[in-house]
Amino acid sequence: MEKSRDALKILIKGETEAVAMYASFALKAEIEGWYNTAALFTALSEAESIHIKNHLQSLGEDFTPDTQKTEVGSTLENLNAAIEGESEESRRLYPRLIRSIKSELSGEYGKVARLSMTWARKVEKEHARLLKKARKAIKNGRDLPVDKIYLCKVCGNIVFDDPGEVCDVCGHDTQFFKQIKGDE
Ligand SMILES: [Fe+2]
Ligand SMILES: [Fe+2]
Repeated sequence: MEKSRDALKILIKGETEAVAMYASFALKAEIEGWYNTAALFTALSEAESIHIKNHLQSLGEDFTPDTQKTEVGSTLENLNAAIEGESEESRRLYPRLIRSIKSELSGEYGKVARLSMTWARKVEKEHARLLKKARKAIKNGRDLPVDKIYLCKVCGNIVFDDPGEVCDVCGHDTQFFKQIKGDE
């Protein structure tokens, strides 16, 4: 249990920093006139706060991490930093945590914790993919091409334009989606 708890705390710290970081990145993107990219950053900030909520439930205690201040660069630099962070989480941090939960936690509780971490890992992978889309557009002098942005309030998954019927990651009905950008 100890290894899982430590790993969970590291992730809660990372997600807490990400919430603030994405909010600052959204503001910067707006100032630079990249409104769609700003909306993506806003969705990401909300998504990471959903992860914190889920992780605190798995941890089962109150925990307020010490966080580091965000460094804000140009939007292109911010996209690079964000992609690096999301990739690190989905490739290394979450798989490590899922492994230690598997070996340390049994029963229903372990099952729930593992499921929530598996969702989060998939979500971070998808976040990285969407951020890469934004980076590609901005490198070409255009804003991210997207009309509508939806956020799954259960798992933090972000979906562009067509919400479909169920969330690809957690399987919940898209009535649990919140629209972040675009007309109803
Ligand atoms: Fe993320
Ligand atoms: Fe979901």
